Amino acid sequence: MENKIKEIRQNAILKIEQATDLKSLEAVKNEFLSRNSEFNNLKKGMKDLSPEQKPVIGALLNKVSSELNSLIEEKNEIFYKKELNEKLLSEKIDITLDGDYIPMGHVHPLTKTIDEIVEIFNLLGFSLIRPEFSPEVEMEKYNFDLLNVPKEHPARDVQDTFYCEDMPNVVLRSQTSNAQARQMMNSKPPIKIISPGRVYRNENVSARKNNLFHQIEGLYVDKNVTMAHLKGVLNEFIRLYFGSSRPTRFRSSFFPFTEPSVEIDVQCIMCKGEGCSICSGTGWLEILGAGMVDPNVLNDVGIDSTVYSGFAFGMGIERLAMLKYAIDDIRLFFNNDIRFLKQF
Ligand code: DAH
Repeated sequence: MENKIKEIRQNAILKIEQATDLKSLEAVKNEFLSRNSEFNNLKKGMKDLSPEQKPVIGALLNKVSSELNSLIEEKNEIFYKKELNEKLLSEKIDITLDGDYIPMGHVHPLTKTIDEIVEIFNLLGFSLIRPEFSPEVEMEKYNFDLLNVPKEHPARDVQDTFYCEDMPNVVLRSQTSNAQARQMMNSKPPIKIISPGRVYRNENVSARKNNLFHQIEGLYVDKNVTMAHLKGVLNEFIRLYFGSSRPTRFRSSFFPFTEPSVEIDVQCIMCKGEGCSICSGTGWLEILGAGMVDPNVLNDVGIDSTVYSGFAFGMGIERLAMLKYAIDDIRLFFNNDIRFLKQF
């Protein structure tokens, strides 16, 4: 038995020396020291030895086993370091090389304008409407009836509004005012919301008009809301949006859902006097419609108009963006010409 152990030891030492990497070393370890190895079988055979032989062979087995283990461990350490070094060298990054250029995208100028406007109204205490109160595909009832727009009103004409062929009482909303009735039917005053989004009108497309555009609607209903609140909020909005106080003009106007109604003009941004192409020489630019919510509108949605009052406003987002950034053609927003979009 002693000879067998010595033979195995010599054989193992030879193979450990011959191992060239971690993998072949592992194979040697398995061959000589694993549970099924010949060496381990000798350990199992100890029970059949005579009492005199047991301690001698036992000690020898232990000695050889720890000798082989430490030889393998030593070599393992060397191979491990070597392989790690090779790996680090092969994965070395040359930080002096130029990186790949990844062009940065950015938000669309209309999205940017909407974000700016929403932020200003948030500051003024208005919150964003829940999207389900402001759908783009809308019942005629919310787009017109509940806004006090009578059946024979020209705005309902198919010339202006896109009707759904199969469902005559469904339209693509022609104004974000559709949000008003839904909001008022689903919540109690005080109501102070804004609702930005797309609207659709059957227009002839030109530099000033597109059949898809964006509006933002605002609605404030509470006790004792007056025209002075309307004026204060909208003047403050104009000041914050255009970045400086800019003369405004409130002109009386008409909308079926407000009484009284106004249109608000701001002084022309880059007025060239008599022949100015932006304001047609008037010196003023109309930017929004507004007014005190008509009592009929309040009563129709179940809000007592003898207790509550409110104001509402609506503005075209493209128009506001065009005025701020001096853009002269609304179609530029929709053509996706990268040369235009890159400027924002
Ligand atoms: N909906 C109107 C339009 O599209 C704009 C408007 C005017 C909205 C007056 C309002 C308002 O809420 O009070 O022309």
